[in-house]
Amino acid sequence: LKSLAASMSHTMLADGSPMPLLDPALLASGTDQGGMSMLANESSQPRLFKATLTAKAVRVPLLKDGPTEFWTYNGSLPGPLIDVMEGDTVEITLHNQLSQPTSIHWHGLPVPPSQDGNPQQAIAPGQKITYRFTLPEGSAGTYWYHPHPHEFTAEQASRGLAGGFIVRAKQDPLAGVPERLLILSDLKLDHMGQIAPNNSDDWMNGREGQFVLTNAQNKPTVHFDAGGRERWRIWNANSARYLRLQLPGSQLALIGTDGGLLEHPITGLTEHVLAPGQRIELIVDAGKRRDQGKLIAAVYARGKMGDVAPDKPLDILTVDFSRVATGQVVSLPARLATIKDLGRPVAQKRVVFSEKMTMTNGQHGMQFLVNGKEYDMHRIDLTSRVDEVELWEIVNQSDMDHPFHLHGTQFQVQSREMDGVVKTESYLAWHDTINLKSGETVRIKTVQHWPGIRMFHCHILEHEAVGMMGQLEVV
Ligand code: C2O
Ligand code: CU
Ligand code: CU
Repeated sequence: LKSLAASMSHTMLADGSPMPLLDPALLASGTDQGGMSMLANESSQPRLFKATLTAKAVRVPLLKDGPTEFWTYNGSLPGPLIDVMEGDTVEITLHNQLSQPTSIHWHGLPVPPSQDGNPQQAIAPGQKITYRFTLPEGSAGTYWYHPHPHEFTAEQASRGLAGGFIVRAKQDPLAGVPERLLILSDLKLDHMGQIAPNNSDDWMNGREGQFVLTNAQNKPTVHFDAGGRERWRIWNANSARYLRLQLPGSQLALIGTDGGLLEHPITGLTEHVLAPGQRIELIVDAGKRRDQGKLIAAVYARGKMGDVAPDKPLDILTVDFSRVATGQVVSLPARLATIKDLGRPVAQKRVVFSEKMTMTNGQHGMQFLVNGKEYDMHRIDLTSRVDEVELWEIVNQSDMDHPFHLHGTQFQVQSREMDGVVKTESYLAWHDTINLKSGETVRIKTVQHWPGIRMFHCHILEHEAVGMMGQLEVV
C-alpha cells in the first residue's frame, strides 16, 4: 500500500489537474513492481490449503490532507494471491469486518454452488464463513475471487475487494519460463481523494476511473527477465473498462485463456482485447529490443456505432528491456495442452441481453435485462441437468458490448455470429467470461457438474448490480 501511494505521486485527476495534496514524504524511489502479497498456507497437512481472508476497511495515506479508505482482504491491494495445485483442497474462512454483508465468489473455479459465495449466501457484518472445495485434475488456470453479495458486488469490488487465484498443473509444460502476474484494476477517486461513488453515467455505461492500476500501482516499471522470454498472466479486474492491450514494438503469443492453456500458442498478435472479468496468458519475448516498452490499453469502442463509452487510451505499465541478456531464451513447446471437445449438446438454452430506456419522475434511466427481465434472487430463470452438455445461444440485442459470465464451469465457444455471418471458433479454449459485441450472437457449449443454483450475468459490475443477471438451477 505504501508503494501505491508512491506510484500515485505524479498523477492527475480526471479534469487534468494534478493531485496537489500528495504528501512528498510518501514519494519512494523504488519503481520495480512490488511483489503481490501471497496468502500464506496455515495448514501443515499435505494437499490442504487453509487460510483466512478478512474483509476490512484500510486507510491509505495517498493524499496529504487525509487518508483514502479502501476495502481490502487482509489489508492488501490487490487481495493476497492464492497459489495452489490441482488436486488441492482449499479451506478459506472469510471474516466480514465490513459494514455491509459480503461473500466470496471463486470466479471461474469448479466449486459446488454451496461454496461459491452466491448472492443468497452473503454473511452479515461481524460474521465468518468457511468455504471448502477440492480442485479437480485439469483445473489449472488463472482465476480470481471477489465479493458477490446481493446489490453490493460492484461497490465492494470498486473499493478494492478482489484478488488473484492461480491453480498450477502438476505437469506444467512452461514450468521453466519466468512468470509475471499483472492484475489490472480501475481506481476512481473523487476530488477529496476518496473512492468515488457511482454517478448515473457509471450505472449506465459502467464505472471507469482515472487510473488503471497494475497490482495496485499506478504505471509501475517492471524489468524484463534477463532470459528474454516471460509468461504473463493478466487479469482484467476492472468493473467495466475493456482493455485493448498492446505492447508496441513486440508481438505477443496467446497461450491461455480464463480456464488454462490453449492447445497451441497463437503467435504474432499485436493486440488482445480483454473484457472485464477475463484473464489471459501470454508469452512475451524481448527479441532484440533493449528499450523501454509501454503496455497500452488502447481505445475500445463499446457500442455498435462506436460511440458508446469509448475507453480512453492509457499507458498502464513500462517494461524495461534494457537488462535482457542475449542468447538464453527458454524454448517453448509447440503443444501446450490437450483440450477435449465437450461433445454433442443434448439440450439448448437461449439468453438475450437487452436494454430499455425508462422514465421515472421525469428522469431518464436505463434497464439492463436478461431474457426481458431484471434479476430476482427468488426466481429461477433456467434449469439444467447435472453433467448434461448444453448449447447456449447468447444474443446481445443491446446497443453496447456486454461480457457474459457463467458461474461454476468453463465453457467452449462454438461460433460467433454478426450481421448474419456465422464464424466457427477456430480453436478450442476454456472460458468463463466472453464478450458479446452489440448485435452479436455467441454459441457456447457448457456443462455443470453439481446440483444447485448458478448465476449468469454481465460482468460489467454495474450492469450486474442493476439486474443484468439470471439464475440457473442445476438438478
Ligand atoms: Cu466474477 Cu458472478 O462473477
Ligand atoms: Cu463468477
Ligand atoms: Cu453489461
